[in-house]
Amino acid sequence: MPRLSLEGGHVLNGTVRVSGAKNAALPILAGTILVEGDSLIENVPNLLDISTMTKMLNALDVVAEPCPEKNILKIRNNRKIRHIAPYDLVTAMRASFFVAGPILARTGYAKVPMPGGCSIGSRPIDIHLTGFKAMGAEIRIEHGFVELKCPKLKGTRMHLDFPSVGATENIMMAATLAQGQTIIENAAREPEIDDLANYLNNAGAQISGIGTSILTINGVPRLSGCTHRVIADRIEAATLLIAGAITGGKVTVEDAIFAHLEPIVQKMQECGVQMDVDVQGNKITVSPSGPLKAVNFETMPFPGFPTDAQAQMMTLLTVSAGTSVVAEKIFENRFMHAEELKRLGANIKIHSDTAIITGVPRLSGAEVKITDLRAGAALILAGLNAEGITTVHGLKHLKRGYENLPEKLTSLGAKIL
Ligand code: UD1
Repeated sequence: MPRLSLEGGHVLNGTVRVSGAKNAALPILAGTILVEGDSLIENVPNLLDISTMTKMLNALDVVAEPCPEKNILKIRNNRKIRHIAPYDLVTAMRASFFVAGPILARTGYAKVPMPGGCSIGSRPIDIHLTGFKAMGAEIRIEHGFVELKCPKLKGTRMHLDFPSVGATENIMMAATLAQGQTIIENAAREPEIDDLANYLNNAGAQISGIGTSILTINGVPRLSGCTHRVIADRIEAATLLIAGAITGGKVTVEDAIFAHLEPIVQKMQECGVQMDVDVQGNKITVSPSGPLKAVNFETMPFPGFPTDAQAQMMTLLTVSAGTSVVAEKIFENRFMHAEELKRLGANIKIHSDTAIITGVPRLSGAEVKITDLRAGAALILAGLNAEGITTVHGLKHLKRGYENLPEKLTSLGAKIL
């Protein structure tokens, strides 16, 4: 597996642009299955996960092709959609299961492999299936596949057991072409869901309550092609801001959306990082601050602190004076990075869903292994601080979700060997 070595201790300085959000682009691409005709999706990050999703679209006979302009995908949805999602694509990336709702709504029948667990937890799909069932789908799970059948979904009122991001997106997509009105209560409120809803509304859907925990979807007979620009990636923005803070540098991230980053910015400020936001709220700067100090936080659905930035924030806390307590409340196994951070000299103790981190003055370079996407970002951040050379193995995980992270860090002055 590819690896990357970096020399720690170089102060980062400069301005860097945030790419489009992976977690918005993925469901939007799945959503193109619902949208007849041509869609132009702009600001799509160039990532492994995105290429898995475009392979999935092509396998379903929705043609996804990159435009000569960077980061734009042209989607042509003019043919009959296939019903069966290939096993290798769904097991390669859980977000492939987002195609289930759109295929079902569009064709009345979908056969999608069970996505299975992943390195951060078991990740069931019961909430997705409960939603489809409430809308009239017949569900059969056999030979590792989920089969969903319903000639025409019917709108209904439902309350999600937990505000799952994926379930909210999958059910919302299916509801756009259902007969009548669907109301989703206890819906997740992550900004990426708003972006998906805005794309679908541009294509003719009738979704209201966007940004709230009650989504109302009035079904329409068809959706038709449009152009949509994907929002900025708040997790990438957070990672770059922490990179500035952990090296004591002055880093500005451009094209970010402050409203999406508030819980992270607030925690970083509490930790002692100086942060400034421009009046439009899309340029955020971290500047050299006094000594960093311990803070406590727990991960929560939006607008709480995002689980996808937990590993990166934990890395900052490994060099913040005092003892921090971090509770992971979304995924049951999302502290894999802690063992690797310990190899770099971090002082972390794990007790079930809680990590207790006692800050050390500085980390020290070592060889470490990436276990999942955000763990990869955390280890690179640690390497930026660590004395000497850090070699990070398993870079493939990082390429799933960060567009050119090593290049962006190099442009700010990181020494990547
Ligand atoms: C999405 C994000 C992921 C992020 C997560 C939480 C994408 C592509 N991925 O993942 O980066 O970390 O949101 O913000 O957008 N659950 C159930 N049953 C279900 C569905 C979920 O029990 O049917 C549980 C999960 O096991 C997990 C929790 O709910 O413990 C949150 O999962 P969910 O919000 O669904 O995350 P994803 O959509 O998979």
